[in-house]
Amino acid sequence: ENPVIVAIDGPSGTGKSSTSRAVAAKLGLNYLDTGAQYRAITWWMLSNGIDVNDPVAVADAAGKPVIVAGHDPAAPGITVDGTDASGPIRTQEVTAAVSAVSAVPEVRARMVELQRAAADTSPAGIVVEGRDIGTTVFPNATVKIFLTASAEARAARRSGELNGAQSVADTRAALIKRDAADSGRKTSPLAKAADAVEVDTTDLTLDQVIECIVTLVEEKR
Ligand code: C5P
Repeated sequence: ENPVIVAIDGPSGTGKSSTSRAVAAKLGLNYLDTGAQYRAITWWMLSNGIDVNDPVAVADAAGKPVIVAGHDPAAPGITVDGTDASGPIRTQEVTAAVSAVSAVPEVRARMVELQRAAADTSPAGIVVEGRDIGTTVFPNATVKIFLTASAEARAARRSGELNGAQSVADTRAALIKRDAADSGRKTSPLAKAADAVEVDTTDLTLDQVIECIVTLVEEKR
């Protein structure tokens, strides 16, 4: 049995993380949150006084931090230079800066290398969530999923995750801005792969989405 690679892409607030972790747990696969990796390098840049809006400075520093993402779907975690960064990478400051950092080709090259290495060290296989997994990182993935949802549903979910610290309207505006930046960049933008299965999660429960993906993987395995 060949290792299985499940690529789960889509914009923010579509339920990618909850879905991906549950699918990995059900199928006994490893899990990788590539958004956490881009957040981690962004957090390091901010912490080290690098101007995130200066692509040359970001490119020069891209090789410096050591980022290690956990692969256990029950407790993924991520460290930067040995320090647990799971909390700090979720701040609004990092969220606002991450699209600029992740648009820099040197940053992407480094993250893609880590992502492919994660698959190489996953004997049963891995569920990888992100924006360019099916298009760029694993063009030969076993199953490719593209999750979507209405802007309203996505903003409501994100605002809920932030425990109302940001209004739904502000969350919606920030989310739309980030998706536009991620979709509009030159290097591997957020896009649905031609052979990806699109799942609109607006009116589905989390369990329904998980079931749908697990079934697709079991058919291909
Ligand atoms: O998934 P999450 O919202 O944590 O991703 C944070 C950011 O990381 C995205 O908005 C995007 O800029 C970047 N990202 C990316 N490519 C990926 C995953 C995330 O550019 N594969």
